[in-house]
Amino acid sequence: SQPNVFITRRLPASLDPLKALASVEVWTKRQPPPYDVLLNKIQAIDGLLCLLTDPIDRSLIEAGNQLRVISQMAVGYDNIDIPAATEKRIPVGHTPDVLTDATADFAWALLMAAARRVVEADRFTRAHQWQTWEPDLLLGGNIAGATLGIVGLGRIGQAMARRAKGFDMRILYTNQERCDSALETALNAEFVAFDELLQASDFVTIHTPLTPETHHLFGDRQFQQMQRSAVLINTARGTIVDPEALYRALAQGQIAAAAIDVTEPEPIPADSPLLTLDNLIITPHIASASRQTREKMATMAIANLVAGLRGERLPHCVNPEVYP
Ligand code: GLV
Ligand code: GLV
Repeated sequence: SQPNVFITRRLPASLDPLKALASVEVWTKRQPPPYDVLLNKIQAIDGLLCLLTDPIDRSLIEAGNQLRVISQMAVGYDNIDIPAATEKRIPVGHTPDVLTDATADFAWALLMAAARRVVEADRFTRAHQWQTWEPDLLLGGNIAGATLGIVGLGRIGQAMARRAKGFDMRILYTNQERCDSALETALNAEFVAFDELLQASDFVTIHTPLTPETHHLFGDRQFQQMQRSAVLINTARGTIVDPEALYRALAQGQIAAAAIDVTEPEPIPADSPLLTLDNLIITPHIASASRQTREKMATMAIANLVAGLRGERLPHCVNPEVYP
């Protein structure tokens, strides 16, 4: 009989390659399937295609009696218990590379918008406050020639460095491991200690996965080390930044501004004090949201799922140790 597949949302790509070999069920509501729905579905499926809004924890994975592949439409996979999947020899797919440039483009847009107060200026204009040209109206900080600190020089961090080169920026980075010197030279990027990056950067941009080590990596102590003119950009995962510490830093002028595409939790609660700050830009986790990129992510997630159902190696697997 045909394998069963559950897809937790409508996808912007054709399901035909999947329908050719599997019986496919798609969750079509706007909100993600509730946990009990996932728990119920997972017991009868061979393949799961999920999003970062689906908590694929150990209990779910262990309930998947015939589950053979998990395919996530995202590059990050902190919502999935990878060790639990690996123990059951279930390969987990993700969608790297195809979203690198779109995500870096958006992080760059946030950087520029925060530095030059674009969103605030738009609000100002719509509020009919534009009365004349003023020498000191809505002053921001320079981008060209400034120092950019990149936290995590992986695929997206490197794409940020390539963009920064065009703005003649000094580029500092931290990474779990130092990158090879050919890459450092090509990107003109300098490996420094985290503390030094915080102290020396005009802009700090986060491009590291969420792990136990990066959970609340930014707290009071880190904001205190940053310059009062500094700007923080987060397009990685909200939980890397302690939201209460971010509020204090922005409200007290410990840093000048921040622009975040990700929050803790998501979506941001309506009563979050962060929403009251003028020097904070918040967008709803859309850094990879170009039409072209979302199509490629969906296509790649489907290809990973198809490979897993066929018993083939996933083209983009996060736990290749499942293979002998
Ligand atoms: C989005 O946040 C992703 O991980 O692809
Ligand atoms: C600004 O519009 C200028 O001409 O300097």
